[in-house]
Amino acid sequence: MSESMNGLKRSHRCTEVTTAQIGQKVTLMGWVQKRRNLGSLLFIDLRDRSGIIQLVFDESTAKKEDLEKAESLRSEFVIAAEGIVRKREGAVNEKLLTGEIEIQVEALRILSEALTPPFPIEDDANTKDELRLKYRYLDLRKPRLQRNLRLRSQVTTFIRTFLAKEGFLEIETPVLNKSTPEGARDYLVPSRVHPGNFYALPQSPQLFKQLLMCSGFDRYLQIAKCFRDEDLRADRQPEFTQVDMELSFVDMEEVIDVNERLLAALWKEVMGVEVQIPFPRMTYAEAMDTYGSDKPDTRFGMELQNVSDTVSGCGFGVFTSALEAGGSVRGINVKGQAGMPRKKIDGLVEYAKGYGAKGLAYLSVQEDRSYKSSFAKFMTPEELDKLVLKMKGEPGDLLLFAADENKTVFDVLGALRVKLASDLGMLSKDEFHFLWITEFPLFEYSQEQGRYIAMHHPFTMPMEEDLDFMKSRPFEARAKAYDIVLNGTELGGGSVRIHQSDVQELMFEALGFEKEDAYERFGFLLNAFKYGVPPHAGLAYGLDRLIMHMVKEDNIRDVIAFPKVKDASCLMTQAPNVVEDKQLEELSIRVEIPKKDD
Ligand code: AMO
Ligand code: AMP
Repeated sequence: MSESMNGLKRSHRCTEVTTAQIGQKVTLMGWVQKRRNLGSLLFIDLRDRSGIIQLVFDESTAKKEDLEKAESLRSEFVIAAEGIVRKREGAVNEKLLTGEIEIQVEALRILSEALTPPFPIEDDANTKDELRLKYRYLDLRKPRLQRNLRLRSQVTTFIRTFLAKEGFLEIETPVLNKSTPEGARDYLVPSRVHPGNFYALPQSPQLFKQLLMCSGFDRYLQIAKCFRDEDLRADRQPEFTQVDMELSFVDMEEVIDVNERLLAALWKEVMGVEVQIPFPRMTYAEAMDTYGSDKPDTRFGMELQNVSDTVSGCGFGVFTSALEAGGSVRGINVKGQAGMPRKKIDGLVEYAKGYGAKGLAYLSVQEDRSYKSSFAKFMTPEELDKLVLKMKGEPGDLLLFAADENKTVFDVLGALRVKLASDLGMLSKDEFHFLWITEFPLFEYSQEQGRYIAMHHPFTMPMEEDLDFMKSRPFEARAKAYDIVLNGTELGGGSVRIHQSDVQELMFEALGFEKEDAYERFGFLLNAFKYGVPPHAGLAYGLDRLIMHMVKEDNIRDVIAFPKVKDASCLMTQAPNVVEDKQLEELSIRVEIPKKDD
């Protein structure tokens, strides 16, 4: 039977009780973690969001009815206990914050009984993800998830306070929006009042925050839910949170400055870690060339080496034909891994193929300086020596090469160096390598759409130096865009925006938008710009990703209270679901599910 609060008041959370309260009476409430019977003594580990404390019922002093109730307690019952704090009579438990004390219970109430949970409420319980997510409310009781969400709350509070002091105003933007397809696929919401019309959920508050600059708010902040219908990955959810900001009368430097100070202050406050500012900067071109990635992990070296010149004209057809086709040959030097077993190397080749490689050529430098290689037979000893020298290969080194069009070479080697570093235990989660990537291309070619699209978005300012050739060679122009990268993940990104209509027109022209088309989609923004628009720039962080780094989690789900799984469904609520016919009728929607071809 459950008892009510009936005037009872909690005096402390479990771990707020310390040796300073010895001899005092306290009232604690929480969940039963564990019950142990030791003859005349009965112990309960009581858990709340702060942690665990031990309750003791002594047969000789406790009330009979309380003893009976205590006997009936099982895991996850919710109880209230009044008692006296005392020094532990048993051995001190070093693992608990409250390990030196215990509560001698004088009164017990059972506030709620509980079914046996489908898995133990412990961090290291080996429970299947599906079960954890189905019972997410129980999973969330575990200390690790409690810590993650507590830290998340601390971070948003800190960011709000910090940016408020910097003059940012927190302003909400709508969730039901006009669809302006760019970037990812939209989530659509049907309109009842306008049959056949749809709202789109925001992929980001981008256009609204620019309008707020037109309205004169000067510095805007929002911790905003964003929605993107894209394939999920370990660091991607269909709905996620951005820390979104926009600033007027600034250039890139001011955005970078306030964000470096924010990140440094945040890391110091929440993690107790000093990070050096200013952060290093690298251009996009340099990042690709050196690391094969626009979000390089700089916690380790293993840089890419372009060996195209070295191998041009050599006897290995794989290399020369890639060069003839306009591609390149590049390699990485995996130090000390010459002895890597063949099977493992084969595994790397398969991994590389997953990134589009046709193969992966390898060469290991033996202790006697001889080579073991998948392509030695195609090259002369001199050609091989030259290649090894270029790669700074020393005895004990394993050299891996990809030959293909540049994009594939970068993708393959960029991914491979991170995989190798991870496999070889070279990645420490206690190191934080922040890095700005700048000078992104303004456009990128989309294979899917068969045309150039804006790499960031169509309102991103070209670099001043490149404005001259925006008309003649737009696709070579670089953008005033910047990403903040941490340990190989893109934490956030932003840009200086176009505020001049002539530059905007060049941009739309390059994208192949007719003027009417541009107005149809973005007219509200373009019109707003006609009434006096300040130069402005901004940035948005993926909050979930930021938290992942701070709590050192590998999966984004572990920093979100109620996450979705790979197919974008929620295992707990079973969303999305089929709705009633009546609801569809009201929305003038008829559903036709295409038959799947077998
Ligand atoms: P962008 O599209 O780069 O920029 O998004 C900003 C940051 O949001 C995070 N992010 C995600 N996190 C989790 N799941 C996802 N599906 C997901 N998609 C993006 C990333 C990313 O760096 N409006 C611009 C910003 C600007 O220009 O001010 C924008 O949305 O960490
Ligand atoms: P093959 O002559 O096809 O057996 O290839 C010899 C070696 O070159 C093998 O180790 C292949 O994995 C490797 N290889 C094949 N294609 C490529 C490529 N595009 N880039 C790098 N290595 C390759």
